[in-house]
Amino acid sequence: MRPFETILDGVGRTPLLHLGRLGSGFPAEIFAKLEFLNPMGSVKDRIAKYMIEKAEREGRLKPGDTVVDNSSGNTALGLAMVCALKGYGVKMVVRDCLSPEKIKFLKALGVELVFVDHTLPPESPDSYNNITPRIARETPGGFYLDQHNNRDNNECHYRTTGPEIWEQMEGRIDFFLAGVGTGGTLCGAAKFLKEKNPGIRVVGIDPEGSIFFDYFHTRRLVRPKPYLLEGLGDEFLIGCVDFGLMDDMIRVSDREAFAMTRRLVRTEGVLAGGSSGAAAWAALSLAETLDRPARIVTIFPDSAGRYLSTIFNDDWLREKNIIP
Ligand SMILES: Cc1ncc(COP(=O)(O)O)c(C=O)c1O
Repeated sequence: MRPFETILDGVGRTPLLHLGRLGSGFPAEIFAKLEFLNPMGSVKDRIAKYMIEKAEREGRLKPGDTVVDNSSGNTALGLAMVCALKGYGVKMVVRDCLSPEKIKFLKALGVELVFVDHTLPPESPDSYNNITPRIARETPGGFYLDQHNNRDNNECHYRTTGPEIWEQMEGRIDFFLAGVGTGGTLCGAAKFLKEKNPGIRVVGIDPEGSIFFDYFHTRRLVRPKPYLLEGLGDEFLIGCVDFGLMDDMIRVSDREAFAMTRRLVRTEGVLAGGSSGAAAWAALSLAETLDRPARIVTIFPDSAGRYLSTIFNDDWLREKNIIP
């Protein structure tokens, strides 16, 4: 490998790990793409680099601008890296329940944070989703990235994550599963994989409390409920989630996701975050139903280091009634 010119050369081309221990005893095999090995530790480095460079090429982002968006922390970290190099400001709207580790990282990187009350109903003008475009308009030189609705997010994964998985699996893929936050990872990579082989079954993963699972199965919008898993699900429909690309959706509870996050350390020696636990839980649940050999690929979006005071802290789990 040649020396990188900048840290951005380290984004993408992440390893794919065969989860041989977790999936042992089943005819199906499970593989996970280790996105926490991106420079800032998450899958979101990909869209931060791709969307900013595309906006620059198209003249939508100019020197001195400030990039504004809402984020469960990882996009903010990716943007902090990209914008530090390129000289843009970063202002991020985050929920006040964000893990303390992510807040410390973001502060260390000089990101301007706007905290919103996570208990506000989605229709409130000051809710996480509603306040962000307003803040972007009110910020001098504000550039609203809009990762939830801007399909450049999906395009990034269509051009990078999807082809990488196809190549690493040598085209032998039966199922592709991923958590749906903005939907960019799942829908972008799935579009590429389905173009290569329409027989690949695509499964979205949604946390209990989010609205996507019910909408997928019934086309009805249910009232969202609070949940603890960071990075997945939403309170209303968003532009990057393309339900037409999904063959199924699986719902995962906080308890199932967190228990599996901790099991990943013991069984595979992998220190991954809660949405990786959700992905591994969903992949294993699928493997349990299959009585034939099959290859299941999923995504591990970020690492455990962001959740030491939450998912890996028994006191917190007890306080939140996750463990007795
Ligand atoms: C920890 C974590 N997992 C999964 C995702 C979901 O990725 P996507 O937004 O591409 O659906 C996110 C997105 O914010 C995340 O932060």
